[in-house]
Amino acid sequence: TEKRLLRLGFDLHDGPLQDLADLAAEVRRLRDELPQLARARDRQRLTPRFEALEERVVALDGALREIAQSFSGATSTQQSLDWVLRCQVVAFMKKSDIGLKLDVHGSLEFLTPSQRIAIFRIVQEALSNIHDHSGATSARIRVANTSKGVEVDIVDDGDGFDVDKTLIGAARRGRLGLVGVAERVRMLGGTFDVRSAPGSGTRLELTLPRWTGATGLQGHDS
Ligand SMILES: Nc1ncnc2c1ncn2[C@@H]1O[C@H](COP(=O)(O)OP(=O)(O)OP(=O)(O)O)[C@@H](O)[C@H]1O
Ligand SMILES: [Mg+2]
Repeated sequence: TEKRLLRLGFDLHDGPLQDLADLAAEVRRLRDELPQLARARDRQRLTPRFEALEERVVALDGALREIAQSFSGATSTQQSLDWVLRCQVVAFMKKSDIGLKLDVHGSLEFLTPSQRIAIFRIVQEALSNIHDHSGATSARIRVANTSKGVEVDIVDDGDGFDVDKTLIGAARRGRLGLVGVAERVRMLGGTFDVRSAPGSGTRLELTLPRWTGATGLQGHDS
């Protein structure tokens, strides 16, 4: 799966991103030709719409690029999770006013690729929820090496929500962000907990066990 993700990153880069660049160029060309194509009255109306279109294409390009990079970044076994998390924090701070802190306690070298990818994905989901839904002013990610494995918690000081009610409703509408996280953690033999209530912020807590493999050796799943 790790190789597949890496491939996906490259495919995204070479296929859709290339097409998107062509699309952006075409929109720009059309906008530039507008003075010849349209009467002055129409031009005034059309120019801002073309500009908005261009902006949306650029935003889409940025988002896809981030995804492509995240695949190749998070999945490369050479890169420490530490470093990958730092990149996520920097990317978040660039697009958000919410203050975000990252604490990493102890070495995370013992994590298997699957565990690393899972943590990366979970942090990604948590951060996009904080950005989209929380109304928080600050948030914190804590990752710690413990005797049992790894503990991750992600806390924000935002609006909070009624967990049971909201997640059932979200799942019905096909929004599977947190439900997907729970499933991913379960598959890796870990635990996952969402603690939140209206007016009191949100806390995601998860643990993944130290992988020892059937023979007691450090596992290297692929
Ligand atoms: N940090 C948070 N603060 C406040 N509300 C949250 C937070 N995280 C999740 N929620 C609430 O829980 C709902 C479900 O979140 P979930 O990530 O499962 O789905 P989504 O973000 O709505 O959609 P998707 O993740 O599929 O794009 C959200 O719609 C939101 O109402
Ligand atoms: Mg979500």
